[in-house]
Amino acid sequence: LDLFLNNRFADALALLRPWKDQSMYHATGYSSILVMQAGMTFEPKDMDAAMTSLGESLQTCQRFRKKTGIVESLTNLWYRQPVENLTEEEMHAELCYAEVLLQKAALTFLDESIISFIKGGMRIRNSYQIFNQKSTHVHFRGGVSMGIGSFNLMLSLLPARVLRLMEFLGFSGDREVGLSELREGAASSSLRSILSTLTLLMYHLYITVILGIGDGNLTEAETLLEPYKQKFPNGALILFYTARIAVLKGNFTFAQEKFLACIASQEEWRQIHHLCYWELMWAYSFEQNWREAYRYADLLCKESKWSQAIYVYQKAAILSMLPEEEVTKLRENVVELFRQVDGLKLRIAGKSIPTEKFAAKKAQRYSSSNPVKLVVPALVRARKHCEPTSIFLKKSHVLCKENN
Ligand SMILES: *[C@@H]1O[C@H](CO)[C@@H](O)[C@H](O)[C@H]1NC(C)=O
Ligand SMILES: *[C@@H]1O[C@H](CO)[C@@H](O)[C@H](O)[C@H]1NC(C)=O
Ligand SMILES: *[C@@H]1O[C@H](CO)[C@@H](O)[C@H](O)[C@H]1NC(C)=O
Repeated sequence: LDLFLNNRFADALALLRPWKDQSMYHATGYSSILVMQAGMTFEPKDMDAAMTSLGESLQTCQRFRKKTGIVESLTNLWYRQPVENLTEEEMHAELCYAEVLLQKAALTFLDESIISFIKGGMRIRNSYQIFNQKSTHVHFRGGVSMGIGSFNLMLSLLPARVLRLMEFLGFSGDREVGLSELREGAASSSLRSILSTLTLLMYHLYITVILGIGDGNLTEAETLLEPYKQKFPNGALILFYTARIAVLKGNFTFAQEKFLACIASQEEWRQIHHLCYWELMWAYSFEQNWREAYRYADLLCKESKWSQAIYVYQKAAILSMLPEEEVTKLRENVVELFRQVDGLKLRIAGKSIPTEKFAAKKAQRYSSSNPVKLVVPALVRARKHCEPTSIFLKKSHVLCKENN
C-alpha cells in the first residue's frame, strides 16, 4: 500500500507477486492493482490480465475458506444463517473472496453485455451475503464497512426501477447507510481505510457532480484527504484529488499547479496523466484561457484512447473560441476536426455512448459544404454534458454576462 500510494506501482506488484499463490492478502492486493490499471486503460490485454489474476486470487482465497458440505451450505442459505464457528483466518478468507468477487463483477460490468450483467449481479449477491457477517476484529470490521458501504452507495445510485428489483433480491441501497459505513471504514485504522476514503472522495468529487444529485461535501473531502497529504505528499492519487477539490471550489490556479505536480510525480501510469489533461483542459476553459485548454485537448487527442470522438470534438470546440488567425498558426482546421467526430464514435456492447452521440450530433452541422457554426460551442457543450456542471453553471452565468 505504501509503495502504491508513493507511485511505485511496478514495485508494489513485484513485492506481491512471489506471495500471491500462498497468501490471500497478497493475492487480493495484486489483483486489485491490476483491476485499477484495467479500469484506467480499457485495453483488452489489461482487462484479460486483470480477469486472469482475479481468477487466481479466487483460488488462493478458496484454499483458506471453511469447507462446508453441500447440505450444510444449502441449509445455511435456506435459513439465511450466518456461517458460524469460523476461525479468524477463515473469516478473512470470506472477506477476501467477497472482495475479489466484487471486483470481478465490476470489471464484468465494464467489459460486456447483458448476460454478463446478470452473471455479475449474481456474483455481487454472493459477495454481498458474505459482507453481511459481523465481527470485532479491526481489519475485518474495516473490510465489512467498506463492502457494505460501497454496496449501499452503489445501489442507491441506480435508477429507482432497478433498485426496487435489487431490493427484491435482498439487497439494500440506502445511501445514508452506505456513507456512514464508509465513514466508519475510513476512520478505522485498518488495511482498507484508504479504500473507504478513496470511495468517499470519488463520491463527493465526481459521482455527485456527474449524476447531479446535489453538491458533494467538500469540507468532508478535505478532512478525509488531510492525513494522506501529510503521509504521501507526492502521491499521484492524493495530488489528483487535492487538485480536484480546488477545481470544485473554483480555485483554478491552485488546481492547475497541483494537476501539473501530479503529472510530474510519476511516469509509470500514463493514464493518470490523461485524467490530469482532461481536468486541466476544463480548468483552463473555465478561465477562458483557450490557448492552454487547447494544449491539453490536443494532448488527449494524441495520447488517450478513451474517447477520441469527445476529444476531437472538444478540441474543435475550444479552437472555435480562438481567433481564426491563431487557429491557422496552430495549423488546425476547425471544420475538418468537427467532420471527423462522427467516424470516431465507439460502440461498447453494441451501444454508442450518449456523450459521444451528443458530440456527433453537434458536429453534424459542419458536415455540409457551408457549415452553420455553433454558437460558443465550448460553453454549450459544457452546459449540457460536461461533468463539472454545478460549478460551471455558477461560473458560466458570470462568463455569459461578461461576454454578453
Ligand atoms: C460451534 O462451536 C460450538 C463450540 O465449539 C459448538 O457447540 C457448536 O455446535 C458449533 N456450531 C456449529 C454450527 O458448528
Ligand atoms: C460536511 O461535512 C462536515 C464535516 O464532515 C460536516 O460538519 C458538515 O455538516 C457536512 N455538511 C453537509 C452539508 O452535510
Ligand atoms: C487557493 O487554494 C490555496 C490552497 O488552499 C490557497 O492558499 C489560496 O489562497 C486559494 N486561492 C483562492 C483565490 O482562493
